[in-house]
Amino acid sequence: IVLVIDFGGQYNQLIARRVRENNVYCEILPYTCGIEKIKEKNPKGIIFTGGPNSAYLEDSPKISEEIFELGVPILGICYGDQLMAHLLGGTVEKGDNMTREYGKTIIDYGQSTIFEGVDTNQVWMSHTDYISQAPEGFEVVATTKNCPVAAMQNVAKKLYGVQFHPEVEHSLDGDKILKNFLYNVCEVAGDWTTSSFIDDKVAEIKAMVGDKKALCALSGGVDSSVAAALMHKAIGKNLTCVFVDHGLLRKNEGDDVERIFREKFGMNLVRVNAEDRFLGKLAGVTEPEAKRKIIGEEFIRVFEEESHKLGKMDFLVQGTIYPDVIESGLGDSATIKSHHNVGGLPEDVDFQEIIEPLRELFKDEVRKIGLELGIEENLIFRHPFPGPGLGIRVIGEVTKEKCDILREADAVYMDELRKADLYKEIWQAFATLPDVKTVGVMGDERTYAYLVGIRAVASSDGMTSDWYKIPYEVLERISNRIINEVEGVNRVVYDITSKPPGTIEWE
Ligand code: XMP
Repeated sequence: IVLVIDFGGQYNQLIARRVRENNVYCEILPYTCGIEKIKEKNPKGIIFTGGPNSAYLEDSPKISEEIFELGVPILGICYGDQLMAHLLGGTVEKGDNMTREYGKTIIDYGQSTIFEGVDTNQVWMSHTDYISQAPEGFEVVATTKNCPVAAMQNVAKKLYGVQFHPEVEHSLDGDKILKNFLYNVCEVAGDWTTSSFIDDKVAEIKAMVGDKKALCALSGGVDSSVAAALMHKAIGKNLTCVFVDHGLLRKNEGDDVERIFREKFGMNLVRVNAEDRFLGKLAGVTEPEAKRKIIGEEFIRVFEEESHKLGKMDFLVQGTIYPDVIESGLGDSATIKSHHNVGGLPEDVDFQEIIEPLRELFKDEVRKIGLELGIEENLIFRHPFPGPGLGIRVIGEVTKEKCDILREADAVYMDELRKADLYKEIWQAFATLPDVKTVGVMGDERTYAYLVGIRAVASSDGMTSDWYKIPYEVLERISNRIINEVEGVNRVVYDITSKPPGTIEWE
């Protein structure tokens, strides 16, 4: 294992992903975790991340100096580099406009094991403070115009520091530098792959669950699907999946889940068709947060009722993934991701323990594992879908008629995006149905029908997004087809709002 010690920088998850791309398992720990915890993990290497503070200030993030005596190779990046310099007796100075470097920067590399095979000179910088003097025992192995110590090393102690960010793509040979550190300095085996993960995890689950029983809430989303497939591989029929179909899914989605998991995988799958029940509760409700609450609560009630019918379960499977764990503060205790992303955990379900088979994985790793387990691409690369589903894409009151219209329009839209090879490029796209009718003319007749909104966004995490520029010809085909093929619609509009100030969903 390699440990990434988090000092609060913005690229921390990216560092961990880069390490794993080199087939090396790594975990992120906060700098506050304590030296004992670090020793317990017995790491082959340690990486200090960047961070927004100044290393020389009293109350900035620090770490026990004992870490430098463990004999474990350390790579400090940006703040991590400055912190190492500061703690070991070098000088870190407050920067000014002259020392500040931001963005693409030309670097002059010297000799170092970590620079082997590097033949470009562009790196990505993002710092104001700088190291003016490397600590005793260190040699300077790179400089830039503004930075007298752009990289330093103490080979005997296996300590390395770089001011730039090797984890970002704009550091052209950053991947080589990380690889050199991992393979040449830490001497890792590099045998962590998705297949080895599956084998190890299956063995671990078997040992943990034995012939006890586990229950999984399957939503048809990527995380719960992969978690279910992995559990199934380990414990087969001792796993039961409950799929609550709230009637607010996209076209064919419920049938797809049944086909894949019951027919193809042969899982114990209970599909609860609860459309009437959800629509009944939603009748007359127009306020978005009220709709969310109703859907979330009803979802839990249905799940509880079904699980009671199944009797006592020993384990409840959750599709928690690594970013959820990190975001929740890196606790050791199980973080609880609400199944289906709605509501919370059922309070009244009889189980003893939570099992989270994907807890260590990033989303792209979850996808790879899903494909390897035989889940089809269509499901694995599906755009994110909110737990309340069409309940918040039908604006205003939710009715079956409106959901059906929206499902058809959305299906046509997705079909055209796939045909134009845009689906995978877009982070999330969907149609919405505002509670608005407009006038049109079709043939010789006046129409008075619904308006469909189409939205597509470019984003990396959904926190911020830009509206995606779909080519005009594709927009034209989408609009023509929706109006011609979906009864009850006579107008299509394209949402050109970024987030912020807009949100991705309309409600
Ligand atoms: P917004 O609309 O807040 O959406 O910009 C950001 C991302 O979150 C999804 N989203 C939800 N997911 N339950 C969910 O599980 C919800 O109530 C919910 N609301 C929005 C949205 O689809 C987008 O990916």
